[in-house]
Amino acid sequence: MRFAIWGMGAVGIGLASTLARAEERLLLLGRDPETHEAIARHGLRRTGLFGERLVPPDQLRLETHPTALVDDPPDWLLVCTKAFATESIAQALAPLAPALGARTRLLLCQNGWGNEEPFRPFWPESQLFHARVITGFRRPRPHEVEITAHASPIALGSIFGQDIRSLEAVAARLAAGGLPAQTTREMRGVLWGKMLYNCALNPLGALAGRRYGELTEDATTRTLVDEVIREIFRVLEAAQIPVEWSSAEAYLETFHADLIPPTAAHESSMLQDLHAGRPTEIEALCGAVERLGQAFGAETPIVSALATLVRQAERRQP
Ligand SMILES: NC(=O)c1ccc[n+]([C@@H]2O[C@H](COP(=O)([O-])OP(=O)(O)OC[C@H]3O[C@@H](n4cnc5c(N)ncnc54)[C@H](OP(=O)(O)O)[C@@H]3O)[C@@H](O)[C@H]2O)c1
Repeated sequence: MRFAIWGMGAVGIGLASTLARAEERLLLLGRDPETHEAIARHGLRRTGLFGERLVPPDQLRLETHPTALVDDPPDWLLVCTKAFATESIAQALAPLAPALGARTRLLLCQNGWGNEEPFRPFWPESQLFHARVITGFRRPRPHEVEITAHASPIALGSIFGQDIRSLEAVAARLAAGGLPAQTTREMRGVLWGKMLYNCALNPLGALAGRRYGELTEDATTRTLVDEVIREIFRVLEAAQIPVEWSSAEAYLETFHADLIPPTAAHESSMLQDLHAGRPTEIEALCGAVERLGQAFGAETPIVSALATLVRQAERRQP
């Protein structure tokens, strides 16, 4: 089973270093020359939780252009870019779809909701899957990642209710490489479980410049966080998307008791993106909640206000 990974960032390199094996070369697609050079020279190194894993350069094929996929189509193509790059990835993939479609399955490993949309016009739902990753990957050097946190196994599934037996082998391969993973038949709910956490904390953490624990310690920001969660539950109810928790109040209990304490020192990735002058994933997070709310007649005033403020902060960047 051969893999290709699009996006040589923290998650891409973390998953590549987990999936690579001696018998077959793993294709890495990325655009940064410094990353290519470092990987061609040193291979990949993964450290942190689950121990050290080294992948020599000769187990990897490094390419900049996706036409490289067509020479020898992989069984799985993992999209590991930020959500704001998905549209451009889909545009580049579309002309290659006829050559890849029969063999290659897509696995979207990004945060957010709606990342599959740009692929749907040309990629069959039966070959389009999602991964929910709540493992923390940090990339201290271009060819190295450190696993800093691991809340739960990587979840693999289909939001379209498709046959997920092919994902069993992917889960097994990730587990063999040291990263716990499992398939799920509840992929929509699982993705929204992470959306709840991300939408409540990530934009506000960026706007306030506060760590997650600080947001929930302060009474005003805690109220905003809780209200975002309640708004999203109303949207999910209207859209008839079930999640693991029976109500917003049940989720809030888990959120404050179990989810915040281990991530209290966590800094918002949107804050890092704004500081670096990059776009944020706001459209795949609060933007997606807003759009779903509009489609199903559920109001999202606080989520929309956060989205607006982050969009404005993006425009203020140099
Ligand atoms: N890091 C984590 O701990 C973590 C955990 C769970 C989920 N996630 C989610 O996983 C996704 C990836 O996050 P990340 O932390 O890996 O981000 P990242 O470190 O910024 O990596 C994204 C990579 O994608 C590359 N890229 C962007 N557009 C591209 C294009 N058109 N063609 C080729 N490469 C392209 C970027 O290259 P350039 O450097 O050239 O822009 C970068 O190397 C996000 O949705 C994130 O929210 C991250």
